[in-house]
Amino acid sequence: MFILSKSRGMNRKNQNKRREFLNNVCPTVALAFMGVSVLQACSSGGDDSDIGGGSNNGGGNNNGGNDLGYTKNGNIITINLNHSSFSALHSNGWFNLYQEKVLLLKVSSSSYRAFTGSCPHQGTHTAWSYNGSSSEFVCGQHGNSYKTDCSTSGTGGVLKCYDAELSGTSLKVTKS
Ligand code: FES
Repeated sequence: MFILSKSRGMNRKNQNKRREFLNNVCPTVALAFMGVSVLQACSSGGDDSDIGGGSNNGGGNNNGGNDLGYTKNGNIITINLNHSSFSALHSNGWFNLYQEKVLLLKVSSSSYRAFTGSCPHQGTHTAWSYNGSSSEFVCGQHGNSYKTDCSTSGTGGVLKCYDAELSGTSLKVTKS
């Protein structure tokens, strides 16, 4: 009995030492000790790695709760159009803010449209591309297309529009 409790006490002591060690070393070294290679630890994976149709299915710099380029207050998303996270919106004319399930379209320098980023077919929100010649969003999951005039049906029906209000370099999107 004594030996058992002594052994438990030593285990606890060892655990505490290990915890203390991990708290004190840098995360990279700690990962290496735990058998995780640094490359593995730093590689980006996740559900957006298989996105089709280019580089636009991303958005917001989600590092450590820093400046994301947008703020959210209830169902209102306010986007700083000058933020580097949204540079693709200007260069490509559209952007999938997939974290908020919102698709953005730049109609002109003074006009933007916002749509639901959830495909009406089965809800996929990370497989969008934009066909500029037919003015349609295309969901790569099953290939349905959606017109961007907020009313005409594409092959998958109508893509729901959100109110998008531009004020200077700030775009306020109200999800409804
Ligand atoms: S989920 Fe988008 S086309 Fe099927």
